Amino acid sequence: MNKLQNRRVLLGVTGGIAAYKAAELLRLCQSQGAEVRVVMTHGATEFVAPLTFQALSGSPVHTQLLDAEEEAAMGHINLARWADVIIVAPASASFISRAARGEASDLLSAIILATEKKVLIAPAMNRAMYEDKVTQKNLANLTERGMVMLGPDEGLQACGETGFGRMLEPGALLQDVVSVFQTGVLAGLNVLLNAGPTREAIDPVRYISNHSSGKMGFAMAQACAEAGAAVTLVAGPVQLVTPSGVERMDVTSAAEMSEAVMAKIEQVDIFIATAAVADYTPEHKAVEKIKKNDQKMQLNLVKTVDIVSTVSSTYPELFCVGFAAETNDVEMYGKAKLKNKSLDMLAANLVGVAEGGFNSDENALKIFWSGGEHQFEMTPKHSLAQQFVELMAEKYNEKHTT
Ligand code: PMT
Repeated sequence: MNKLQNRRVLLGVTGGIAAYKAAELLRLCQSQGAEVRVVMTHGATEFVAPLTFQALSGSPVHTQLLDAEEEAAMGHINLARWADVIIVAPASASFISRAARGEASDLLSAIILATEKKVLIAPAMNRAMYEDKVTQKNLANLTERGMVMLGPDEGLQACGETGFGRMLEPGALLQDVVSVFQTGVLAGLNVLLNAGPTREAIDPVRYISNHSSGKMGFAMAQACAEAGAAVTLVAGPVQLVTPSGVERMDVTSAAEMSEAVMAKIEQVDIFIATAAVADYTPEHKAVEKIKKNDQKMQLNLVKTVDIVSTVSSTYPELFCVGFAAETNDVEMYGKAKLKNKSLDMLAANLVGVAEGGFNSDENALKIFWSGGEHQFEMTPKHSLAQQFVELMAEKYNEKHTT
């Protein structure tokens, strides 16, 4: 259930009798938690009215490449960036030909050319058209460019002929969409993460905290689970839905977070510290609400336990990933934290700015490890987490094969 939670699916519909089945595919993707947007070619609108897809998706259907309103709101580049995955179902011979030639003459072809995300193509056409050498060459061209062909199926066709050319059923296509995210790169591993802020109580009604929403950590937890890991997430006080298949432990303070992490750590292969743990906590928590009797008041703070450093020094075999939230000199501080906290990887990000970092749906990360680094540009946190997890799995395997 909810295998597409927080995922954005762009559904391309082209002209063919199977266009009506795309409506069912849309519903199936939604039933797994996906947000779906629809792009239709002119041919598709001859088979099914855009209003059907608009009503089902709850969003306007995109049909025009050059439309002043759409360009301002969601043009082809924005749609290409918005999607986590693109599926064209049904994909007609004509669309496949345009995509193979790298045309950008209609909205859907332009998106296919502009995207860097996974593209799934579900061909649907008359069997002779499908078997034609030109179509086969076009399909081979798309496969070579990294697109994934789904089907077609064999059977009786709408034209009365029998052979290959039927679109795969929506249920089968849904599985293919889901499998884009289920990479299996962490299969068999136990991953523990912490996420969100901590709250350090001053008295029963006040606390010290920070702006972390938990979004980055929850996205990492989801990506690890999708990659096949058994995932435990120690969450600070945040209002987020637990990703599917993830075991969650809720805590409030840095001390509680530390205790929850240490209680689980012996069973894990990878620890990912995304939490913005308070560095200091009040030395004493007042039992009753502090009254404002004086002009000034002084609060004595003491250092909290550094959770990630404790883990990395106590369990050097464990693969340990830290994050660094910086307002300046991100690279310098990031590299220093990689070394000082004895981490296998460190993800540094800029915080305190309008875009990215705390509480934003997007983020950019600069990843450091011993002898290497990689920059992930500003992208939705769920997509970013998926890419980071792929890289992390690579580095984990390197550590365990050397
Ligand atoms: O939650 P979001 O709104 O989505 O925002 C995401 C984020 C900005 C919080 C996240 O991307 C991030 O940067 N997390 C780390 C925040 C942080 O505390 O950074 P730091 O540079 O202060 O700490 C470095 C590392 O030490 C972190 O892995 C932190 O978890 C760890 N630490 C810090 C203090 C402490 N007492 N114990 C720790 O384990």
